Amino acid sequence: GVTRHYKFDIKLQNVTRLCHTKSMVTVNGQFPGPTIMAREGDRLLIKVVNHVQNNISIHWHGIRQLQSGWADGPAYITQCPIQTGQSYVYNFTIVGQRGTLFWHAHISWLRATLYGPIIILPKPGVPYPFAKPYKEVPIIFGEWFNADPEAVISQALQTGGGPNISDAYTINGLTGPLYNCSAKDTFKLKVKSEKNYLLRIINAALNDELFFSIANHTLTIVDVDTIYVKPFDTDTLLITPGQTTNVLLKTKLHFPNASFFMAARPYATGQGTFDNSTVTAILEYKSPKQSPKNLPFFKPNLPSLNDTSFATNYTKRLKSLASVQYPANVPKNVDKHFFFTVGLGTNPCDQNQTCQGPNGTKFSASISNVSFAMPTTALLQAHFVGQSNGVYSPNFPFSPAHWFNYTGNPPNNTMVGNGTKVLVLPFNTSVELVMQDTSILGVESHPLHLHGFNFFVVGQGFGNYDPKTNPKNFNLVDPVERNTVGVPSGGWVAIRFLADNPGVWFMHCHLEVHTSWGLKMAWLVLDGKLLNQKLPPPPADLPKC
Ligand code: C2O
Repeated sequence: GVTRHYKFDIKLQNVTRLCHTKSMVTVNGQFPGPTIMAREGDRLLIKVVNHVQNNISIHWHGIRQLQSGWADGPAYITQCPIQTGQSYVYNFTIVGQRGTLFWHAHISWLRATLYGPIIILPKPGVPYPFAKPYKEVPIIFGEWFNADPEAVISQALQTGGGPNISDAYTINGLTGPLYNCSAKDTFKLKVKSEKNYLLRIINAALNDELFFSIANHTLTIVDVDTIYVKPFDTDTLLITPGQTTNVLLKTKLHFPNASFFMAARPYATGQGTFDNSTVTAILEYKSPKQSPKNLPFFKPNLPSLNDTSFATNYTKRLKSLASVQYPANVPKNVDKHFFFTVGLGTNPCDQNQTCQGPNGTKFSASISNVSFAMPTTALLQAHFVGQSNGVYSPNFPFSPAHWFNYTGNPPNNTMVGNGTKVLVLPFNTSVELVMQDTSILGVESHPLHLHGFNFFVVGQGFGNYDPKTNPKNFNLVDPVERNTVGVPSGGWVAIRFLADNPGVWFMHCHLEVHTSWGLKMAWLVLDGKLLNQKLPPPPADLPKC
């Protein structure tokens, strides 16, 4: 591989959407931010310089960071934030991965404006296991807030209520013609007839799982989260925040001068308020002889907001390619079985405050009834210097016993505990983790993201997980492998991974509001005995708290 250098200058830039101009935090003045292009095996040196008042930290979502945990990026987990006027060089090598990922800010709600694609091509001379695309196009979904998203979340946390929803969804930063004032802010993809396009689709939205479809066209799913899958055709795909999906789009012969909407709209089952609006972009067939005016427009049909049966059927179709060249190395023997509950709950309101959460409480969210309290120094640094005291405790509870019918009537007490607890794993532990959605404040799908690993999704179902019967149906042959999985609304999901990467690895719901409410925890993977199984010392420029 080669070494590639990037420079990210974090600075303010005026951006206008929906006829609303605001000064916002950007990378290099771009929105969305720049695309990182690399090949499998390359080393990346990305210098991030902070010219704004906010503390900054950038995460390379889905990059495995083998022996490079100091470059992972979540603030107060692997590093202290980059303060105003300071810089940090993220230094990592892409090992055994190729496909689509993305980078985003990993502090407060700054990822609303700080995000961009990561495209990893195969090693030189290695073809895709599907038809060679004529062109490759990133499609990155986001959310636009007329307000400052930092103000939106800090206000919500102070009042204990839910944050204001965004004002629009975006495709490549653009809102599309169905929103007010947006006709000129429309992403257009000009295509030729009968060609294969590879769409690299990324959901960087803060709080919404999305359905996506292109009118009158079939999408062939070929890759999710950098893992090739058995190709299949669908009219619509589902993508949670934190997930990526590569699709082949074969353009048609018979539409020399037509245009089609590409559209995305949310999938949501919770009781909160959702923006059920539709973001559109345009697929435009180009025929040089025809005038581009008065083109016929075709609109896709998208599933309805709470179409869980579509979500379930779509998700079930995803299987690893599991070929000789791209095997599915599912851990067959499990060293440790863990069971986590994930869901919403409440915290008591602070004295002298009026809180807007349920029954005058504050909204909270938890894993195994622990709402994660952010430390004031980075966990990885505390671990490395052997000073965990007062920073974190190594006693994350992995089989909560307080309530057994997780999807039945909720208990009267919705309160969750708080703490900075990590789960410690010896190097190379083979882990099976079942995550169970709870109905404490209503059932909801939670896209859980694990840093530092891909995992295999070996099983999922509705209702309560049954450790006696459900494992009999686990798929250990070709389960989909990914870094973010939806814990089904009112159900459970089982994943397996091998803890072969020393460091502290964050795991959280990728719905930003749930992360803010505490739906997060960290794994601490200890060093192995060999030199290449140890976390190296921190780089000299690692930011200090
Ligand atoms: Cu993309 Cu910790 O997240």
